[in-house]
Amino acid sequence: MARPFIAGNWKMFKSVADTIRYVAEFRALVADVHDVDIVIAPPFLALHSAAEAAQGSNIGVAAQTLHWEREGAFTGEVSGPMVREAGATFVIIGHSERRTLFGETDAAVNRKVMAAIAATLTPIVCVGETLDQRERNETFEVLDRQLKTGLDGLTGEQLAQLVVAYEPVWAIGTGRNATPAQAAEAHGHLRTRLRQWFGAPAADACRLLYGGSVKPDNIAELIRQSDVDGALVGGASLDPRNFAEIVYRSRQATV
Ligand code: PGA
Repeated sequence: MARPFIAGNWKMFKSVADTIRYVAEFRALVADVHDVDIVIAPPFLALHSAAEAAQGSNIGVAAQTLHWEREGAFTGEVSGPMVREAGATFVIIGHSERRTLFGETDAAVNRKVMAAIAATLTPIVCVGETLDQRERNETFEVLDRQLKTGLDGLTGEQLAQLVVAYEPVWAIGTGRNATPAQAAEAHGHLRTRLRQWFGAPAADACRLLYGGSVKPDNIAELIRQSDVDGALVGGASLDPRNFAEIVYRSRQATV
């Protein structure tokens, strides 16, 4: 397997002061880890402090969303170039909380992906089915639709740089992670589709993360599945020791 990619999505947690403290502690804990890509995603207001505190370390910084325009009359929004200037190099797009709580559509996800690339940010695009959809056997159909529209117009070269996170909505924040077999099945499906649409070299270079109740004690078996290249971690990334433990175990599981 390739180098694991472990990202922490802090959601609406942590102030600027909390962020500075976290990064100081966390960077020391992972200072010797050179074979894992590590990313943290603080709230917008803490992006700049996070990037400053992480400077010269092996920790990348991500925004949790962005607006697709560079600037304009969009009260309350933040653009790709602004996020980039603050020091982020990644951006999470289409998280299920954005989709369900803030009405983000697949078409909006697509515009945001394009805007992120234009701003030289690496998108981490989230897809995933709800429990209802899984029970109706619509998982693959939902993933196809989210991916097809969300990644419309991308070149193979752009896809190769992208990160896609499979996050079954029923597993997010519930303590109920997908079984390794369920993750492997969904990831295998995503990889097959990406190969069909973008060609094998680009699809194989695109990193596929699993997200939904990832913790230190389940990361190893999840990341050992084929086509699982890493994890997007919510709750368990809020404590620097917990998150560092996930980084260590992802690395041990893949050597
Ligand atoms: P969780 O969240 O790890 O707390 O389930 C994952 C996510 O929302 O990305």
